[in-house]
Order: sequence, then structure tokens, then C-alpha cells
Amino acid sequence: MEDSSMYHPSEEIKNEANVKEYEKLYKYSIENREKFWEEQAEELEWFKKWDKVLDDNNKPFYKWFVGAKTNIIHNAIDRHLKTATRNKLAVIWEGENGDLRTFSYHALDREVSKMANVLKSMGVKKGDIVTIYMPQIPEQIFAMLACAKIGAAHSVVYGGFSAEALLERIRDAQSRVVVTADGGFRRGKPTPLKSIINEAIEMCSVVDVVITVKRTGEEVFMRNDRDYWYHDLVNLPIASPKCETEVMNSDDMLFLLYTSGSTGKPKGLVHTHGGYSVYTSTTHRMVFDVKPYDRWWCAADPGWITGHSYIVYAPLINGSTMFMYEGAPNHPYPDRWWKMVEKYGITILYTSPTAVRGLMRYGESWVNRHDISSLRLLGSVGEPINPEAWKWYYRVVGKEKCPIMDTWWQTETGGLMLTPLPITPLKPGSATRPFFGNEFAVVDENAQEVKSGEKGSLVIKNPWPGMAVTIHNDEDRFVETYWKKYEKQGWYHPGDAARKDEDGYYWIIGRTDDVIKVSGYRLGTAEIESALVSFDDIAEAAAIALPHELKGNAIHVYAILKAGLSGSRELEVKVKNHVAEVMGPIAKPESVTFVDKLPKTRSGKIMRRVLKARALGEDEGDLSTLEE
Ligand code: PRX
Repeated sequence: MEDSSMYHPSEEIKNEANVKEYEKLYKYSIENREKFWEEQAEELEWFKKWDKVLDDNNKPFYKWFVGAKTNIIHNAIDRHLKTATRNKLAVIWEGENGDLRTFSYHALDREVSKMANVLKSMGVKKGDIVTIYMPQIPEQIFAMLACAKIGAAHSVVYGGFSAEALLERIRDAQSRVVVTADGGFRRGKPTPLKSIINEAIEMCSVVDVVITVKRTGEEVFMRNDRDYWYHDLVNLPIASPKCETEVMNSDDMLFLLYTSGSTGKPKGLVHTHGGYSVYTSTTHRMVFDVKPYDRWWCAADPGWITGHSYIVYAPLINGSTMFMYEGAPNHPYPDRWWKMVEKYGITILYTSPTAVRGLMRYGESWVNRHDISSLRLLGSVGEPINPEAWKWYYRVVGKEKCPIMDTWWQTETGGLMLTPLPITPLKPGSATRPFFGNEFAVVDENAQEVKSGEKGSLVIKNPWPGMAVTIHNDEDRFVETYWKKYEKQGWYHPGDAARKDEDGYYWIIGRTDDVIKVSGYRLGTAEIESALVSFDDIAEAAAIALPHELKGNAIHVYAILKAGLSGSRELEVKVKNHVAEVMGPIAKPESVTFVDKLPKTRSGKIMRRVLKARALGEDEGDLSTLEE
């Protein structure tokens, strides 16, 4: 699987990179971790500086830049208004239907302030959590920034999630106010966001106010005591384009972002104003090497952590020009992305292996139709990139001159953790080495480092400023999930299996827990299984991940039907559609197999690894705990 060939960056890249040397700075950052981060924090403006860089008295609840006063918006917008950056483009947006909107930093400030005042007029105050459920349109970004500006936290729910998934997140966050849109465009069709919101809030009494941005113009149901059109509100005197930025503590909540874990319901990871600002902007500057002339495109959705950190916050803090696209990569033709790279002169493209594999499928002539020579750096995130896709990306998109930053990280880590720099010699499929300040290891169950080349659990040995500070409403789960396993050592346990080779390069193998990565999206088997048993005919079910050429992994389901029922092709289709309806289309199973029994331990736990081994025709491993 591994490919040990090395790809060396050119002298030109090495000479121009923001960071020209790794080893020395890495050593410095490990030996002087707090000093290193303090120096990075000095790159930003603070209302009041910290009394202490790191407070580790209450592990694992680390606090960064203790005593500091800040607001991420001050660094992402306000401070740029005093420099030439004010006149620079902050956002270039293209709709799937060809609409084009651009915003300078000056204009962005006005839009965000207007939305902030609208939110205030609806009673949103510091400490509240606003749920945002939107398509990829500029107002999605404005809504996030507007919340942060007035000290409210945002909880962005990915627009592909179903009403039930949305409801669960609204309830957990207790969001009184929701910002949404009538829909967005995807493959030429409007998505029904507003009706999904309506369905979700019919089932709960938490939401008082829904603010809807008009995008598609489709007819939607509006309840007159709850629903407001944004274009109506923003034209009222309440929506002044000036709004004070709230002064926040460094460790005040900036946002909540739900992600799947191995058990139970999704968990809301909490990120803060101070540490997160420093970590995301530093990684973006050093790894993605952003320069004033760059046009940065992170082709993720702001609904995921990649979008939060590298569409919204880091690029703005660094005063970059960012590009955002609303729709499908192959609409109307498979050259859509390359056409936009050419048109807007994109210089850095950051995307997922799934997207690369998807575009690779159409062949290189679609890419070659366009002059994409503006590209100078590429990035990958979300799942391991197979060497074949890496090489295609490198050769066809990067024309063998753009290094690929394969970045390993998580919702929990806030920013890039294992990553090359533009100067790093690359091996296709390896996320290479730790970012500054971070020490990693690959260990066994007893916390002993495994031999180089052997598989083990990935651990992080130190705190870093981008780390999530807790799980909303569930501190115990935070400790249990990430810190319990290597409690004695005080290590963070991300739940990934990896190998480290003799050059110190890390190779991520995949999740070790019951989390499935489908097309880079993170789903829990527990959630999928609970969706399955909510289907009338199913008594019990197990979901596993099997390799899939395009998606990386696909969901395969084994279900026991209720007594007297038997499986059919028709039922299989119904079950698939049911899961897609309950969770959202990304969770639709690839296959459903009806079985009489599921392999279980004597204590009744389903042994998914046995199902997986059987499906792959592999050795079933230790079966001593298998029930007769
Ligand atoms: O398994 C790893 C995989 O994605 C997981 C984190 O998922 P999520 O919180 O949704 O964040 C994804 C975007 C940051 C990790 O535990 N993963 C992420 N990046 C990589 C990766 N696996 C291999 N290589 C990567 N570059």
C-alpha cells in the first residue's frame, strides 16, 4: 500500500516558502512550546494580553492565553480595516448557477455588522448558541462571523443533514434562533433547506425565531410568529452597518461543532476565541504558505471543521482572498472546478481525496482544457489519500510543480496536526511529520511505542492551542473519549491507527473505533444502527465500513428482521432510503444484507470486526469472546 518514492520540492519553492527550515524550528517549538505559541500569538492583536500562556492545572481541561481579552473578529476583520487590506477582496463567491458576488474586507465588515445587528434585534446575546443551517452562500459566512462578533456561539449544521439530525443538534445546543435559507443549488436543483428546518422545529419547542435568506426563490412555508426573511430585516433601521465587536475572554466559546463518535449521539465540540485564532492562523500561514498575492480555495463546506478553520477563520485572520463555490464539482460538466481555477486565478487548492478521486474518474482531458498554471500549492484532508489519487493530483492538477499538503487532523484538534510544509520531501499517502509544538507517537495498548513500520494507535503527547476544550453538556464524555485510554501518560487519543516509518513519517491507516469515514464525512456506527432499528421491520442491525473506490469507505449493513418477515430486494431499497432520510443522504448504505444472527460477544456486544473480516475474506482474528 505504501509508496516510498520521495517527491522533492523545487529550489524555487524552498526559497520562497514562509518557513524555510523544519528541523531547527521543530526542535525549538518542542523545547520551548509555550514560548513558541506566545510568539505566534504576538502576530495577532489582543484587547489585553495574557497573564499566562498555558494553564495546565486542571488536565485535560487546558486553558490557553489565560487572562487575555480578544475576539476572533477583531483579528479576522476589524484590524484589517486600518490597513491596505481594507480594500482587498476577502471573499469571491460563485453560485452553481453562475452568480458572482465579491466582498472586500470593508464590505465584509458591513455585511457582518448588519447581520450582527439583526441577530441582536432578535434578542441574541453573548453566550447564546445560534444554529446555522445554510447552503454555501456568502450569508453562511456572515452568519458565523456575526455570531462571533456579538459574543454568541454558532453551531453550524451541515446542509446535507436531515430534519432529525438537525433537531438533535438544535436541542442539544438549545438554540432559540436559527439562521437558514430557502435553499441552495446543487446539480441544478434547489435543495429544500427551509422545509427541513420547518420539519425539525415542528418537533421541538426550543426555536422562537428563524431568519431565512432568500437564495433560490422557491416557495417556502413561513409562519408569521416565527419566520422572518433576512432581506426584510436587513432593510430596517435596526440593521445598521456598524456594530461593536464584543470583548471576549480567550477561553470563551466561539463555536460548537457536532461530530460523530463511536457511541451514542453526536458530540458538540467546543472551540474558543483565543487559542483557536492562534492555531488556525499559524498553521494556515506556515503550511499553506499564504502570501498577499494568493487566491485561496478550500473546497470544503463551512458546515465541517475544515470549512470553519480554513474557509472562514484562518484565511480572514491572515488577510487572504478566499474563493467559495456553492455547488457540485461536476455541474454542468466535470471541468467546473478547473474553469473556476482558471477564471479566478486560484493559487492554492485544498480539498479531499474523495473529491480528487471523483474528478479523476472523468479523465484528465477535462482538466487539460483549462489553463490552471496559477496553482502553486495543493492540499488534501479528511481521509487517507491513496497513492494513485495522490499521483494524479500531483501530475494532472499540480503539473508536477505543486507540493501536496496531506494534512491529518480532526474536528477536535481545530487545525492541522500532522502535515508537510511546502519544503518537505513528500511520500504519496503520508501526512509526513508533526506540525510545530506537537509530539506524536504510535503506541500499543500498554503505551509502548511500536517498532517503526508497525501498526499501532496514534497519540498526541502535548496540549496545543487549537484543541477543543470540552464537549458541550458532557465534560465526562470529553475525558472518557479522548484522555482515559492513556490517562497515566496524559496523552490525547484521537482514535486513529497509524504507522511511523524509519524516516519518522506517519501513515494513517484509519479509525480504530466505530467511526466510519464515508467520502471524508464522519459517521458513527451507533447513529447508523439506531436509524436502522427505527425502521419498523428491523429487530437488530450492525453497520460496518468496507473499502470503496471513490468514497474511501462505504457503509454496509447487516440486519435481522422481526419474526416472520423475510428480506427482499424491495425491502433492501426501503431500508437504504430510510437511513438516508433519518440521517441525510451521506449515510445511505451501500448494501443491506438480511441475516438470522449477528456475531456477538458473550456480553452481547456486536463484533463488527468479525463481520468486516468475513466480508473481506480475511482472518477473523481472536474469536475467544464470541458467543456460541
Ligand atoms: O481518521 C482521521 C481522518 O478524519 C478523522 C477526523 O474527522 P473529522 O473530525 O471529520 O475531521 C476531518 C477534517 C479535519 C481523523 O480521525 N483524517 C483526517 N485527515 C486525514 C485523515 N486520515 C488520513 N489522512 C488525513 N490527511
